[in-house]
Amino acid sequence: MPIVFVLNGPNLNLLGVREPAVYGRGTLAEIEARCRVRATALALEIDFRQTNHEGELVDWIQEARQSAHGIVLNAGALSHTSIAVLDALSAVDLPTIEVHLSNIFRRERFRHRSYVSLAASGVICGLGAQGYELALEAIAKLIEDDSGKEEL
Ligand code: DQA
Repeated sequence: MPIVFVLNGPNLNLLGVREPAVYGRGTLAEIEARCRVRATALALEIDFRQTNHEGELVDWIQEARQSAHGIVLNAGALSHTSIAVLDALSAVDLPTIEVHLSNIFRRERFRHRSYVSLAASGVICGLGAQGYELALEAIAKLIEDDSGKEEL
């Protein structure tokens, strides 16, 4: 079964209590539960993680190179600042879907640029927790297409 790393960056552990007007009342544990249901339906195995530390996120992206077939990534604020995360994604060269709960383009200007987008296969933002489920659907298709190429 293909393995997908679902990686979450800084402050996403506070979902549910953090700025509910922007991010809603759902918790990260609820998002994880929804992802698990969807992953089972898509015949994917997921490894769902959250960190507040840039270096740890870089380590996990590097780990994905050996251990995963794709990445779903909500890097939080690191999306807008971290060239290290961008470099890690470019190095691993796996199908990657970037997710943001909020619509970053309706928010402050500094959120309009994402370094993660420069390495992502696709971007989903503004759809809340549903975005993670849609990202899993997209990644399942990308992994399937990739394995088709290997057989050629
Ligand atoms: C976020 C958007 C980022 O701008 C912000 O820093 C976050 C969460 C989102 O999911 O909407 O921490 O990635």
